[in-house]
Amino acid sequence: MNVLEPHEWRHKTIVAGTEWKNPVGTASGTFQLDACGDYYDVSQMGAICTKGVSPVPWEGNPSPRTAEGPSSMVNAVGLQNPGVDHYLVDELPRLKKLGAMVITNVAGHSDEDYAQVVEKLADSEADMLEINVSCPNVSHGGMSVGTDPVVLSRLIKHLRTLTDKPMIVKLSPNVTDIVQIAHAAVDAGADALSLINTLVGMRIDINTGKPIIANRTGGVSGPAIFPIALSFVWRVRQAIPDIPIIGIGGIDSGEKALEYLYAGANAVEVGAAALVDPTAPMRVARELDDLLDSRPELAAKLAKGQTW
Ligand SMILES: Cc1cc2nc3c(=O)[nH]c(=O)nc-3n(C[C@H](O)[C@H](O)[C@H](O)COP(=O)(O)O)c2cc1C
Repeated sequence: MNVLEPHEWRHKTIVAGTEWKNPVGTASGTFQLDACGDYYDVSQMGAICTKGVSPVPWEGNPSPRTAEGPSSMVNAVGLQNPGVDHYLVDELPRLKKLGAMVITNVAGHSDEDYAQVVEKLADSEADMLEINVSCPNVSHGGMSVGTDPVVLSRLIKHLRTLTDKPMIVKLSPNVTDIVQIAHAAVDAGADALSLINTLVGMRIDINTGKPIIANRTGGVSGPAIFPIALSFVWRVRQAIPDIPIIGIGGIDSGEKALEYLYAGANAVEVGAAALVDPTAPMRVARELDDLLDSRPELAAKLAKGQTW
């Protein structure tokens, strides 16, 4: 049962040669077909970005893994997933059968981990790969790759040799100079950038005086990070005019998605808002479609895949 009726999209976008029927996707780790498919027709989204996929099944971090607040949440799920072989026979075929455009989020603890996943996805039905070099909740790999331009460059150069699929590199905000990291990813062969992943943060239980989540620190997402994430997108767009950018962070309305487009994003992904309201990504997409009606110049740029 789909709660939302289908919609005739008026404003598409092009990201690294792929055509999205609207500029809104789901953000990695916040979409599950079995849960979200009951609320809306997932093929109607601009793109579905999956949870991080690793070479073998990962259990993730111990519980408790999340701490919620009024405008943010901290999570340390730790890339729990059933592994790439399971993904290839289960989730990916089901998403493609529904007609969704799929971005597969790739996770690893080492260069070899990432390479194994990318090699297995190279001939798959995935439309794009999003390389997560920015997860703050895993001990090796993850964010440590995305904060060092030399290490990042080595990894992306190698992955580039393994696939012709459009490769998005997902950047971490937990760096001193985002522009330096963005240049390293693009020079090494990234076709697009998505930013941002979560910011390192924590919450403390005032009754015990101890951290709420077992991992102690985790990644902050939700409306509180919106102005921060927006500025990251803007800074990278100013520095690199011609790379497609997917803006992520705190989006819970069409207006906020529109701010990302004005900051220089070609598309956006909706994350934590979907954990509060599962229909949020579809609602944001519809609100943005309406807002673009009265902004024909911006809509035309998106439709041509232009950056600015
Ligand atoms: C519970 C949870 C799990 C996540 N898992 C992943 C993941 O597997 N891979 C990834 O690249 N980002 C992951 N993220 C980060 C989101 O995709 C997104 O970048 C971040 O939450 C900021 O967007 P938001 O404020 O809209 O949530 C996760 C976020 C949350 C809240």
